[in-house]
Amino acid sequence: MITIRQIKTNQEADQLVLIQLVRLLQNAVHQGASVGFLSPLSDAQAMAYWTGVFESLQSDLVLWVAEVDGQVVGSVQLALCMKANGRHRADVQKLFVHSDYRGHGISSRLLTELEAFAIEQKRSLLVLDTEAGSLAEKIYQHWAWVRVGEIPQYAGRPDGQLTATCYYYKTLAVPVA
Ligand SMILES: CC(C)(COP(=O)(O)OP(=O)(O)OC[C@H]1O[C@@H](n2cnc3c(N)ncnc32)[C@H](O)[C@@H]1OP(=O)(O)O)[C@@H](O)C(=O)NCCC(=O)NCCS
Repeated sequence: MITIRQIKTNQEADQLVLIQLVRLLQNAVHQGASVGFLSPLSDAQAMAYWTGVFESLQSDLVLWVAEVDGQVVGSVQLALCMKANGRHRADVQKLFVHSDYRGHGISSRLLTELEAFAIEQKRSLLVLDTEAGSLAEKIYQHWAWVRVGEIPQYAGRPDGQLTATCYYYKTLAVPVA
């Protein structure tokens, strides 16, 4: 059974979750996902990344994990804009599902949870960027995200080859109080 859990504090992000997130990130990078890292991604680099994420959990970052039998198999983050003129928006970041668990609706479950939270927090505008031409693009389009455009040669794939990034947004219906 798949469960989606928000990791709210550094304390909840215990050592076991940290190690599982390290493996999840390494899996995404080593499978070729352009998510900010080059391959091979060492344990130390991945650990440093997640430690930074955990430190931001009590400020502007929200983290969800998808678990199957207590094992982390997916995750996604929402970075809340803290600028005075941007309190209505947030950035979706680092959506990963372990390659052994793809195609079972796990990213859909993560995004559904994230959107419900965003609505609750009155974040009516979500934005993200992802590698142009990737499967993730199809998935965001499936979920009614609007493609804005792309920037060529924006980021390196895990093998270092530069690739285009495309930008998306989605507006959410936030009930007026
Ligand atoms: C992109 C990724 C997160 C998708 O995860 P996943 O759990 O396999 O995706 P899901 O099974 O939840 O599929 C999501 C939805 O897209 C649909 N979908 C899947 N493949 C599709 C395709 N080729 N075309 C259109 N829709 C597709 C599914 O039907 C599902 O919708 P549904 O829930 O209404 O049926 C996963 O492939 C991954 O981790 N990739 C590497 C990391 C990455 O690129 N992340 C994006 C960074 S922004």
